[in-house]
Amino acid sequence: GTHDPFIQAIPKVELHVHIEGLITPELRWKFSQRNGMTLTHPRTGSVFRTLEELQESTEDGMKPAHGGRQDNAEETLSFFESYYGGFEVLKTKQDYYDLAMYYFERAARMNVRYAEVFFDPQGHTRTGVGWEVMMGGFGEAQREAEKRLHVKSAWIMCFLRDLPPESAMQHYLAALPYRGMIVGIGLDSNEVDRPPVLFEEVFARARADGFRITAHCDVGKSYPLEHIHQTATAIGGTGADRIDHGLNAASSPETVEMIREKGIGMTVCPWSYIRHQPLDEVFKRIRTLFDAGIKMAIASDDPAFMEDTWISENLRVVRKYCKFTDEEMVKLARDAVEMSWAPEGVKKEIL
Ligand code: ADE
Ligand code: ZN
Repeated sequence: GTHDPFIQAIPKVELHVHIEGLITPELRWKFSQRNGMTLTHPRTGSVFRTLEELQESTEDGMKPAHGGRQDNAEETLSFFESYYGGFEVLKTKQDYYDLAMYYFERAARMNVRYAEVFFDPQGHTRTGVGWEVMMGGFGEAQREAEKRLHVKSAWIMCFLRDLPPESAMQHYLAALPYRGMIVGIGLDSNEVDRPPVLFEEVFARARADGFRITAHCDVGKSYPLEHIHQTATAIGGTGADRIDHGLNAASSPETVEMIREKGIGMTVCPWSYIRHQPLDEVFKRIRTLFDAGIKMAIASDDPAFMEDTWISENLRVVRKYCKFTDEEMVKLARDAVEMSWAPEGVKKEIL
């Protein structure tokens, strides 16, 4: 996008970006080539023979972002089909390292100083990848980024809510040897009929073990306010530390007040919503939550599926459509620092 010196100069904290949401068709093609893999369409089984064929199948698949299928095209993949397709090409520690460095290099250029990056371990173990390959590659990149790029980071391990809670618990236990890299636990994937309390056992265990907690509460008519209530008040015993998205809260003054009163911050990713929600509605809701005094961190979500928009583009679009002043933009940037789970010393460096 166009360069904006004011936004570029803000020292940034990124709290909502999925490492797997960075996998563009180009990256997928590159990894599949070097791993000697053939990519196929998940439903028709037809082989993608060129990058262009892969691009065509994924390009229009973004609009029904929540697992829905385009009714006009048998061939077109839904968001989740495309997203999980990206996992298939990651095989080696080098792949994980390269993917993470792709993020950190980009983050450094946007003046991101600290990032809490989501990863979905269940999506990797089901393609046969081992923990040491995944965490080893991520960890090496993380150390390299801190040293060479001055981008500090931590990982948030998300559970796929469309899989059984038992799988979440198994993965939680398997991740414990890597707990030094992991600051928090999240919940993502397809939210339809999957309330957060289904995962209470693992959230309670994680809280007792000292992890921070967050959960995705998606935006749109199919996502009940009840999921936001459970996230804010119940999971982990007393409720999560943050809510990811959760814009539906703006429709209920009591919910807004409860979130504010509990000091729960929200991560807000405008480009993720404007793909399938009316623009004015989205920005009105963001304004409502901000004006109510809720802390929020503007973030990226899945740049590869959102026209290559990253944290800077998300900041630019809220500034424009919420008509945030420079002071309000600075408040947003400080909120992100305060909402982060970074050590106090790291927060002080950025503020
Ligand atoms: N995991 C990665 N991106 C996601 C999204 N946009 N919604 C739910 N889960 C996700
Ligand atoms: Zn997300």
